[in-house]
Amino acid sequence: MHPKELVTRTFHQRFGKVPDHLALAPGRVNLLGEHVDFNDGFVLPAAIDRAAYIAFSPADSDCSTLVAVDFAEESTFTPASIPARNNANGNPLVEWARYPAGVAWALAEANLPAPALNAVFASDVPRGAGLSSSASVEMAFAIAWSELGGWVLPPLQRALLGQKAENKYVGVNCGIMDQFASACGVSGNLLLLDCRSLEWQVLPIPQDVAIVIADTSIRRKLTTSSYNDRRQACEEAVKILGQSLPGIRALRDVSVDDFNRLCNRLPALVEKRARHVVEEVDRTRRAIPLLEQGNIIEFGEIMKQCHASLRDLYEVSIPELNVMVEIADSLPGCYGARLTGAGFGGCTVNLVEKSEAESFSAQLALRYQSQTGLIPEIYICHASDGARMIG
Ligand code: GLA
Repeated sequence: MHPKELVTRTFHQRFGKVPDHLALAPGRVNLLGEHVDFNDGFVLPAAIDRAAYIAFSPADSDCSTLVAVDFAEESTFTPASIPARNNANGNPLVEWARYPAGVAWALAEANLPAPALNAVFASDVPRGAGLSSSASVEMAFAIAWSELGGWVLPPLQRALLGQKAENKYVGVNCGIMDQFASACGVSGNLLLLDCRSLEWQVLPIPQDVAIVIADTSIRRKLTTSSYNDRRQACEEAVKILGQSLPGIRALRDVSVDDFNRLCNRLPALVEKRARHVVEEVDRTRRAIPLLEQGNIIEFGEIMKQCHASLRDLYEVSIPELNVMVEIADSLPGCYGARLTGAGFGGCTVNLVEKSEAESFSAQLALRYQSQTGLIPEIYICHASDGARMIG
């Protein structure tokens, strides 16, 4: 059953009434600019046509009751229990409930009302697959509380609240890309965000090109520490390079030439991580005009370089992602393929000539299965609008 129907039905069963409201928030796929958002770089994601759906009504008391259909679990919290990360009974919140509770916490910090609600949510964004299922849950709840609380914020501000929830409440040190894409998505378009100034614009997806998402079926496990380690390496690089390049605030400020000149001052592993970031920021800067000019061939080449760098320097790929990318690169109509999102499992993103997209997807699935024994899910993705009320 589609998650929209599922949440509506489940709400009725659980709360005995039809929900007052329905909202959704999409996942995202990122085309270029990977692991650079927390280095003040540029990212190029799109919101996808898979989303977290939430059915909700105001609650009668100050206790929120949440049903997570995908976990077949229920949780509760009140304004008093939230700061201690507890449920309404005083026990620690289960992990999934920390995302909505974190949003309520971030709203309280910003003096925005988050009235108690009864809510049921479900998603067709696969979890742990690099498509931002967590950010989409955060953004769906932000929409719900905006509706019930009677406040309005620009989508980017909602995204920043979601990021704060995840950084400070859930404890994942992520950048802004995922919440941004889920909040700000524009149908048919890529979104270009400058993660320093937070200025953003839309870039139309060229007409004869399809974005294909290929899910290796390997799910990411315990990656928070690896993600945070790499982030720390980037910060260390800025500190050391800053001794020779006063005034730099982030790796975004380091040119490839300066980096090559100074990289021998960095410990070997720090150099690898930082080189990925410096070169990825440079790649993204070069890729945007190519996209605007419709030079998809060169743009695709840059995507391939990005994958190699994530694999060899940033070291967040896994063999299954590499196999998926290698097969894709060998198929007709593929301009470029690479892992998308944080890595360590999940999906690749493929830029494919539209007329070839169906056969590309079929071939990729067949060959991946025969090489790995795993059954992948491969689909043509349509860039969609951001988080919104739908009923
Ligand atoms: C995760 C984080 C993002 C970003 C990507 C890698 O999705 O949540 O902020 O850092 O990894 O680009």
